[in-house]
Amino acid sequence: MRNVLVTGGAGFIGSNFVRYLLQADTGVQIVNLDKLTYAGSLENLSDLPDPDRHIFVEGDILDSELVECLFRDHDIDMVVHFAAETHVDRSIFGPADFIQTNIIGTFTLLEAARKLWLTEELKPLEQVRFHHVSTDEVFGTLAPDDPAFAETTPYAPNSPYAASKASSDHLVRSYYHTYGLPVTISNCSNNYGPYQFPEKLIPLMILNALTGKPLPVYGDGKQIRDWLYVEDHCEAIWLVVEQGKPGETYNIGGNNQPVNLEVIGTICDILDEWLPASPNVPHDQLIQYVTDRPGHDRRYAMNIKKIEQELGWKPRESLSTGMQKTVRWYLDHPDWVTAVSDQSDYQSWIDKNYVERGEVE
Ligand code: NAD
Ligand code: TYD
Repeated sequence: MRNVLVTGGAGFIGSNFVRYLLQADTGVQIVNLDKLTYAGSLENLSDLPDPDRHIFVEGDILDSELVECLFRDHDIDMVVHFAAETHVDRSIFGPADFIQTNIIGTFTLLEAARKLWLTEELKPLEQVRFHHVSTDEVFGTLAPDDPAFAETTPYAPNSPYAASKASSDHLVRSYYHTYGLPVTISNCSNNYGPYQFPEKLIPLMILNALTGKPLPVYGDGKQIRDWLYVEDHCEAIWLVVEQGKPGETYNIGGNNQPVNLEVIGTICDILDEWLPASPNVPHDQLIQYVTDRPGHDRRYAMNIKKIEQELGWKPRESLSTGMQKTVRWYLDHPDWVTAVSDQSDYQSWIDKNYVERGEVE
């Protein structure tokens, strides 16, 4: 039995990862440490398969005493670190939390791992792993003809969010080279799927389209992201944790690189087909162009040859199949949608972000 400390496991990808580990025949025991910020919710952890293998702890990764306690009490041999502030637009309005959680929080976890695994030798070194979940945004932006980001692409983060993740990646790397901590890092492109908080593009567009609200497109809507269905990401992370080489980084991506308008069009087409009697048909009439994001990265694309060739992973879902599953999930979970969107923080965020962009309700 291996004991995995998952941080941020009440958020979007973290909760999908917890489900993935409990469903798959991994045999692991999970300790899930999450602060339950606006982005984390126990609703994301309801109806877990095999719940006896999961312990939830509400707490902050910045709390070094708590983190050390969890390592000791649960005999932790793996960390899979998701906890972060993750929304680029929020990082533009207020970067402070991003610096605390993403940089200092990662440092706190690394220090706990160094103390317990390396200094106190709580576990044999060949049994432990610190996996850091990161993003393609650390690489900056691509011009139309640039090759996709490879693991060797120099870092050039453009938003406070991306800069804080880049900083944490560097810290994780340094603990391998300096102290010999067995770490791996994965840099992944944009995820979508069940349980994503509806401030990010895809769930926001699905829920606004369903309720006849405007679909706010930043700038000209021709920015490109490399969309990956979240379960594919979870599978890739577990493969890296189990089979990736210590000290290595792995790019993960979806091989799906539509412009934002195409993503929104796909959602509208699905809803037109599935809800033909809706007064909002055709849903793309709801599209509204709004002021662009400052420093908006134009294009991301991931070169995923390394993980394909070394670990045999490739995405299972196309944008079309993944989006159908995603829209179906949001249609089938109105209680979840109500619970997360009724939070006062959510409404005040929507007001702040979109009213200032000139969107008219
Ligand atoms: P999310 O915002 O949905 O969830 C983040 C979780 O972290 C929440 O449950 C929150 O409560 C928790 N958290 C925040 N601060 C904390 C703290 N100080 N202590 C403990 N818990 C805290 O994020 P997500 O989209 O699931 O992303 C998870 C990870 O994956 C992040 O590290 C992110 O950078 C990375 N990532 C995300 C994407 C994406 O498209 N969403 C793509 C690539 C990489
Ligand atoms: P987002 O989901 O915030 O992810 P990220 O900024 O990390 O890539 O945004 C995805 C893309 O969608 C990005 O180009 C910004 C754009 N976008 C909009 O056009 N309108 C919106 O309301 C949001 C939230 C995003």
